[in-house]
Amino acid sequence: MKIQRTLSPTAALIPLRDLLRAPLGLFSGVKYRNQLKEGLQERFSAHAVFLLSSGKAALTLILKALAAGSRRRRVVIPAYTCFSVPSAVVKAGLEVVLCDVDPETLDFKFDELKSVVDGDVLCVLSTHLFGFTADVARTKQLCREHRVVVVEDAAQAMGAQSSVGQAGTIGDVAFFSLGRGKNLTSGTGGIILSFSSAITELIEAEYRQVPEPPVRETICNWIETALMKVFIHPGLYWFPTGLPFLGLGETKFYTDFPVFRMDELRACLLQGWSDRLDQTNRDRRATARRLMEDLGLGGWDVRTSAFSESAYLRLPLLMRNRSAKESACKRSREVGAGISANYPTTIQDIPQLADRIAVRRVPGAQDIVERLVTVPTHRFVEQQDIRKLDRILCGEGSDPSVPLHRRATADQSPHRPCVAPLK
Ligand SMILES: Cc1ncc(COP(=O)(O)O)c(C=O)c1O
Repeated sequence: MKIQRTLSPTAALIPLRDLLRAPLGLFSGVKYRNQLKEGLQERFSAHAVFLLSSGKAALTLILKALAAGSRRRRVVIPAYTCFSVPSAVVKAGLEVVLCDVDPETLDFKFDELKSVVDGDVLCVLSTHLFGFTADVARTKQLCREHRVVVVEDAAQAMGAQSSVGQAGTIGDVAFFSLGRGKNLTSGTGGIILSFSSAITELIEAEYRQVPEPPVRETICNWIETALMKVFIHPGLYWFPTGLPFLGLGETKFYTDFPVFRMDELRACLLQGWSDRLDQTNRDRRATARRLMEDLGLGGWDVRTSAFSESAYLRLPLLMRNRSAKESACKRSREVGAGISANYPTTIQDIPQLADRIAVRRVPGAQDIVERLVTVPTHRFVEQQDIRKLDRILCGEGSDPSVPLHRRATADQSPHRPCVAPLK
């Protein structure tokens, strides 16, 4: 355990006042949940809103609901995404089908998506990874012919805006995660937005069977959230990082996660969520802009234009090769710079899925696993951290395998590449 300033890969804002008054929620019936639902419905113009205990619980419920209304069982997901996604598909009793991902956009390879989507597919998950908006409209267009539902995985992108609307409002149904380190957090939590009466009806039927969480779980979540608020600070984050059993930053495939309704305490903690979300995303965009400038990516898309405002949950960078990535992650660990290696394998290579998933080549996803790092963008990132990151990623004396950044020209198309390539 090294006592030093240590950045977490991501961190969300939780005002102390909100944290302290949240236990009031234990005695308030459903008042705060109703308020939260109304606020969400208004901001995202959703047909209906459902509040759950986590993002994966939300996704599981969506999938079960869609499956209840169809004989189709195949769910198309990106070959590079959070392991919670296939976990939810398997938990819902459905079949995972992969589509490769373009390393420059982190979105589907659309030629491949076209060949994967057919009349047996129940739904496709269009995913806004790291807060960058995916081309949901294009996915919808490809799905329309076969009447396939588009589920928007906006777990990492609450508050992001694309040319066609806010993340979470473009698909047929969407979900957000309120997990630790997301754009908005309540410790854990999930939100479903439905945009059609048919889907709302199906989800309502499933939601009726979802139990309230036990009080013990509610209180544990509050305590964990309070500890997170304290230890996420760069002056203290060295402590939890030095406790390997906490498994910080690990992504796991597992299906025995609970599916509960969101409790009133979490909903109370989320009072003022809309301003908090906007503030957090403003902070992240400002940090991302500084990082882009200082790391020599100035010409690249960090400007917020009229049609596209990513949420910059993290700043993804493609290193030159695997050794450059490993070297950057190792040096970051040594100096507490918060660089993350992200998901350790493609979804194809998750051992528990070996017998469940049709083998297909996913070279784009493999390339991302080998080269992608993400850099923190949260409000604790200071100029001293940016200097550290600069030294690690492109500075003098860095490992020669660590590349310099390329100044890319901004592409004016609405869905320009979102991953900054390093040469
Ligand atoms: C892309 C994506 N989808 C789904 C989830 C699941 O959300 P949760 O962690 O709230 O269960 C996550 C969580 O990190 C995610 O990153």
